Amino acid sequence: MNRIALVTGANKGLGLETARQLGKEGVTVLMASRNKERGTEAVQQLQEEGLEVQFVQLEVTNEAEVDALVRYIDTTYGKLDVLVNNAGIMHRGEPGGVNTAEIVKAEVLRETFDVNFFGLVNLTQKLLPLIKKSESGRIVNVSSILGSNTLQSDETSPWSGIKPFAYNASKAALNSFTVHLAAALKDSNIKVNSAHPGWVKTDLGGKNAPLEAPEGAKTSVRLSSADFTGKFVHNGEEIAW
Ligand SMILES: NC(=O)c1ccc[n+]([C@@H]2O[C@H](COP(=O)([O-])OP(=O)(O)OC[C@H]3O[C@@H](n4cnc5c(N)ncnc54)[C@H](OP(=O)(O)O)[C@@H]3O)[C@@H](O)[C@H]2O)c1
Repeated sequence: MNRIALVTGANKGLGLETARQLGKEGVTVLMASRNKERGTEAVQQLQEEGLEVQFVQLEVTNEAEVDALVRYIDTTYGKLDVLVNNAGIMHRGEPGGVNTAEIVKAEVLRETFDVNFFGLVNLTQKLLPLIKKSESGRIVNVSSILGSNTLQSDETSPWSGIKPFAYNASKAALNSFTVHLAAALKDSNIKVNSAHPGWVKTDLGGKNAPLEAPEGAKTSVRLSSADFTGKFVHNGEEIAW
């Protein structure tokens, strides 16, 4: 049987490109999207390129959809080899400024953490029994360099000037999940790592980003067969937590 991967938020941007590159490696990719129409369109695009991909429904904060997806993967494949936790959001902030720690509203924090952290942790925990059935399970948590507390607290770092608090804190929390889950699974065949894709031209990254999605997806794809665990990586280089 092919390796089986699940990529969340796979209908566009980095998720779509990650699915494409994994598909080209011969992996069967379950492309999760919260919107059936957008998800099906993306799947058709990659199927026309000859890749073995399929649509699966997933709004990461919807418990019933998570449960249905876990059941589907269990009955259809009986295992999961790669989980790419890619779906994520960033609030743009009020007109004229970002949502800094000084002004960010509680609902923005909650919504951001629901998707970028709580939804992701819940999905991962529920899929773990299936990932444990893989000979070499891999979990890739798509984080961001903006979640590095080391760089955020270093005024000489160019990243320290970019401070949307809800997003950065949610990615720092996600990085903590990576560290803790990697430790919990250290005696298993499962490797867990955080990816920073780079600053990439997508709806989230914006038009001024220097990288295109195919370049940005490379880190997640490489971590899908990593031989190390508990690291925060961009393009083969480790990033400080
Ligand atoms: N682009 C960058 O420069 C950059 C840099 C560092 C990290 N990242 C991270 O890379 C990941 C992908 O981002 P991107 O740049 O590709 O952004 P994007 O083009 O905006 O794509 C985000 C994807 O996540 C999905 N999504 C959002 N909320 C969801 C939810 N509640 N349930 C299920 N799916 C949901 C979106 O679905 P819809 O289409 O339905 O909205 C979309 O498929 C994110 O985790 C982001 O934080 C990006």
